[in-house]
Amino acid sequence: VVLSTAHCAVQDYGAYDPVRDAFLPGSFPDSFIWSTSTSAYQIEGAWNVDSKGESIWDRFSHTPGKVDCGDTGDVACDSYNKYREDVQLMKAMGLKYYRFSLSWTRILPDGTVAGGVNQDGVDYYNNVINELIANDITPMVTLYHWDLPQALQDRYGGWVNETMVQLYHDYVSFAFKSFGDRVKLWLTFNDSKIVCNNGYLTGQHAPGIQDRSQLSSYLCGHNILKAHAKAWHTYNTTFRASQDGKVGITVSLDWAEPRDPDLPADVAAADYYMQVSNSQFAHPIYVNGDYPPDFKILVQKLKQALPDKNVPDFSDEEKASIRGSSDFFGLNHYTSCIVGHRDTPAGKGPLDNINITRSPEWRRAATDWLYAVPWGMRRVLKYIKETFGDPEVYITENGWSDGDVTPPVMEDTDRICYYMTYIDEVLKAIMYDKVKVRAYTAWSIMDNMEWETGYTQRFGMHCHLHGPEPASGTQAVFKVLQGHHRQQRLP
Ligand code: NOJ
Repeated sequence: VVLSTAHCAVQDYGAYDPVRDAFLPGSFPDSFIWSTSTSAYQIEGAWNVDSKGESIWDRFSHTPGKVDCGDTGDVACDSYNKYREDVQLMKAMGLKYYRFSLSWTRILPDGTVAGGVNQDGVDYYNNVINELIANDITPMVTLYHWDLPQALQDRYGGWVNETMVQLYHDYVSFAFKSFGDRVKLWLTFNDSKIVCNNGYLTGQHAPGIQDRSQLSSYLCGHNILKAHAKAWHTYNTTFRASQDGKVGITVSLDWAEPRDPDLPADVAAADYYMQVSNSQFAHPIYVNGDYPPDFKILVQKLKQALPDKNVPDFSDEEKASIRGSSDFFGLNHYTSCIVGHRDTPAGKGPLDNINITRSPEWRRAATDWLYAVPWGMRRVLKYIKETFGDPEVYITENGWSDGDVTPPVMEDTDRICYYMTYIDEVLKAIMYDKVKVRAYTAWSIMDNMEWETGYTQRFGMHCHLHGPEPASGTQAVFKVLQGHHRQQRLP
């Protein structure tokens, strides 16, 4: 494994010293959390085993034409059977934390407590949690990573229906009650923007609804925010005293760099992008219980376009419930873009009045939306500090994808470079900008089912786990990155 930064096309090393190939002394605090992440549908397999109910991703992937190559999560990494091996991989990397998600339908097959608890599913998660703890690995659990019970989609239409707020509450209360004696870090939702935009607007994700009016995606987000807040309050009032954990939410933020930082119109355009594309969920929770100003203008437009429909606002009571409903800020960050003003809108979409580009110098991953822009990580962390009230930040995802893996790629040069340079920027954000970053979580410990692109995208530090391929080089590098701050600390 090549540890040198020579192949990394980034010159601006502040905290990382390429000569000594080490982070600067006194860098990451000893309490810093190093973790990797997965989600239930992407790794578990066993989609209909031991009374598990069908989720919207089971239905979606079984529908021809929805997922590349007809791939499904039916087997995936087979973690339902091989979770012990997964834990050993983490242990071998010296990891002390692991973020994974619960499959709602493995626990409640029809999505409701009244419909019955599947004890096999509860046993499975007890086994995973106990195995982690026995190996000195702390679980960090996502309650919703996109695999809604199909029964709730059929019966209520999924997240567009406000009934979901109570149903989600019942499910998470059951999870807190069953696992909260050992799980102390919870994430209510993973990247709700994708849930709503891809699930209810473009239809690229389950449940595959294409409502171009944007009403469904708006209602989806509105109900998720209420569901999140209700879950946090339930934990706060009913479980916190006895369980003493933390509950947050994971939001996804790209960084938008103004095309010309000296041109007010470009700065305004980048700010518009940050509000409209990035802050629909963060602004209500971390600022004032309501959407950011530019997003609210879009809501007004939606009301004008659909005068016969109910386009709800948050009541004062709902705003009070949502504001401050989080113990930390969960961040998924992967990439950045360059945003400038546009004289003539390209269309009627919310982002059609600005110009969004990428630099030709940015390295692109196998997946089309992911460009390596390490400095965007530092700027987005600083933005969170300044915009969202200086919260504790847990980076819940960051990572890089390859496509087909042939032997030379097994050295994983691009992924190693991505991790080194991004982690370096995290360190700068901590050291120089004083952002309260508490955790760094890599996506992912192993290649897995990458949603509508199936197995064509490899985000793993381990290649196609349990398959014939040898493991990739990144795991060794990540291990070194984690340990460096201790090994290199000066007296
Ligand atoms: C976003 C999602 O949370 C995760 O499920 C996905 O696999 C990665 N990021 C990579 O796209």
